[in-house]
Amino acid sequence: MKVIRTQRLRLVPVTTQNAAVLWRLLQAPDLRMFQDLPNLSAGAFRAMVGTRPKRLRPGAVGRFEWLVYLHRMRRPAGWVSLRLSERDDAGEIGYTIVRELRNRGFATEAVRALLEEAFLRGKVNRVSAYCVPGNRPSRNVLDRLGFREGALVHNGASVAGEAVDVLHHVISRRDWTQSAKAIEIPASA
Ligand SMILES: CC(C)(COP(=O)(O)OP(=O)(O)OC[C@H]1O[C@@H](n2cnc3c(N)ncnc32)[C@H](O)[C@@H]1OP(=O)(O)O)[C@@H](O)C(=O)NCCC(=O)NCCS
Repeated sequence: MKVIRTQRLRLVPVTTQNAAVLWRLLQAPDLRMFQDLPNLSAGAFRAMVGTRPKRLRPGAVGRFEWLVYLHRMRRPAGWVSLRLSERDDAGEIGYTIVRELRNRGFATEAVRALLEEAFLRGKVNRVSAYCVPGNRPSRNVLDRLGFREGALVHNGASVAGEAVDVLHHVISRRDWTQSAKAIEIPASA
């Protein structure tokens, strides 16, 4: 896994060396409102990270995660994840930005870079995301990046230990290529 750089962000792979940084971030109670996060001790979390695949390449299976940093900031702004499944070259993403840094486009910028990594390095054919219908900010991120909203999956995830319905969103390689082209800045700009 590589460090991914964007205009404003640095996405640093989560390894056993920095797993504690992500673990500390995961303890903020407000981040559990819309998503199911691991409830593990710091040591168990680090051990789990150690079992993950190390190289993002075509055919890799498992979970890849990056801490998101703003350039020149030591404190992480959030994290993004990509889970590659054994079946049909597909990936699933997750993303979180800490409360005080939301509404500045950082999630969209980080997920855009993550999609590039999934399609170009992981060679997946499509990427999915699931979110509860009430999570409007998350749906906006997906909408901005060209995801299509799909079916409502009954009891498709659990949040705080409770089964919840989630909306499936998906972007195919073809849709991604087109939306990536659509946001390209013309050379004359
Ligand atoms: C989901 C989540 C990551 C979205 O964060 P966010 O701050 O709303 O998303 P972005 O960082 O992309 O910011 C987008 C907003 O910043 C605004 N913005 C301000 N300055 C901007 C800039 N320079 N560039 C781009 N957008 C900018 C955009 O207009 C947009 O607002 P809008 O959606 O009202 O149009 C965040 O709410 C979160 O972490 N929630 C908790 C975890 C969670 O729910 N994760 C998803 C599980 S499915």
